[in-house]
Amino acid sequence: MQPIEEIRVRLDGDMQQLESLVAGGSAPAGASGAQEGDKALSKRFEELKVKYTGKKGEISGLLRSMGTLAPEARPEFGKLVNELRDYAEAKFAALQAKIQEAEIASSLSGSTLDATLPGYRIPAGSLHPMTQVREEIISFFQGLGFELALAPEVDNDWYNFEALNIPPDHPSRDMHDTFYVDDKVVLRTHTSNVQVHYMETHRDQPIRIIAPGFVYRVDNDATHSPMFQQVECLVVDKDISFAHLKGTLFLWARHMFGAETTMRFRPSYFPFTEPSAEMDVSCYFCKGTGTVPTGSGTLAPAGGAPGQPCRTCKTTGWIEIGGCGSVDPNVFGKVGWDPEKYTGFAFGFGIDRITMLKYGIPDISHLTRNDNRFLRQF
Ligand code: PHE
Repeated sequence: MQPIEEIRVRLDGDMQQLESLVAGGSAPAGASGAQEGDKALSKRFEELKVKYTGKKGEISGLLRSMGTLAPEARPEFGKLVNELRDYAEAKFAALQAKIQEAEIASSLSGSTLDATLPGYRIPAGSLHPMTQVREEIISFFQGLGFELALAPEVDNDWYNFEALNIPPDHPSRDMHDTFYVDDKVVLRTHTSNVQVHYMETHRDQPIRIIAPGFVYRVDNDATHSPMFQQVECLVVDKDISFAHLKGTLFLWARHMFGAETTMRFRPSYFPFTEPSAEMDVSCYFCKGTGTVPTGSGTLAPAGGAPGQPCRTCKTTGWIEIGGCGSVDPNVFGKVGWDPEKYTGFAFGFGIDRITMLKYGIPDISHLTRNDNRFLRQF
């Protein structure tokens, strides 16, 4: 058993030496010195590991020498050699972990990297103001039990015009207003095409949908863009009246523009609603007075200076929001519904416009210019 003990003692000695090298720092400070030292340490570690636990190492040598022992002595000897191997392997594993730690520490202290400096902040970004307004509108109506619906932006004449009771000579069909893909296919000019798609695929059942989306018109100035967003609403059931339309819109306007908001409906004309109306909300800059009140604070730049005529509503006290009306019986007829059985209402308004009003944005092109100085404010 003597050779086993002898090896253990030498192993302990070598390990101690290596450990003190690791603990004390193996080389002078400075990046290259430290790296050189680390390399030497690793090399010495590998040498010792092979020397003791390698295939041709001392511990394996002990096992090989077992043949020279008396047969009765072999089991005990084998057991002790195995214990020694476990002992050595555990020692090497522990030392290897220490060496790795020391290497990391020395590479950090030797380089110019200051791991305690705060990192660069990555800007988190935010939702586009129009997206925020769209989401707010959708979630409000979903809260009332409306379902989200969508329709194509490139659509057949039938869905955009024909089924909506828009006659062939209607001015909105004019090339000056509508982008044509070909004779029968257009870029939709409004989200009202969703009404036709939805009624065709959900026949003879109550409908309550909210449908946002992009629409296209040949139009381009400070308040009009050739591509803009609308949101459409359609409600169909038995005994739906204009009063339901008013009540729904009123709830929405107060949610969007504040509890003191009032509304008015002006008679208007749309081929697919009868009666039809334009809906206005009271101007929330001047509270419907036409004059910017004193103390209007940060809202003042958009609406005008306190005491001055309100620019937002052009002194009328009202802001136009969109079109609405009761579903025209002809539309029910076109999509194969019974106009005697069902009535409904619909409205549509521009999300761009509501965003401009809500945030006091004077020019619609800000919304699509992608200027970060503008976008960062939301
Ligand atoms: N589609 C109409 C527009 O774009 C708005 C509208 C929708 C009017 C629904 C009545 C009913 O101007």
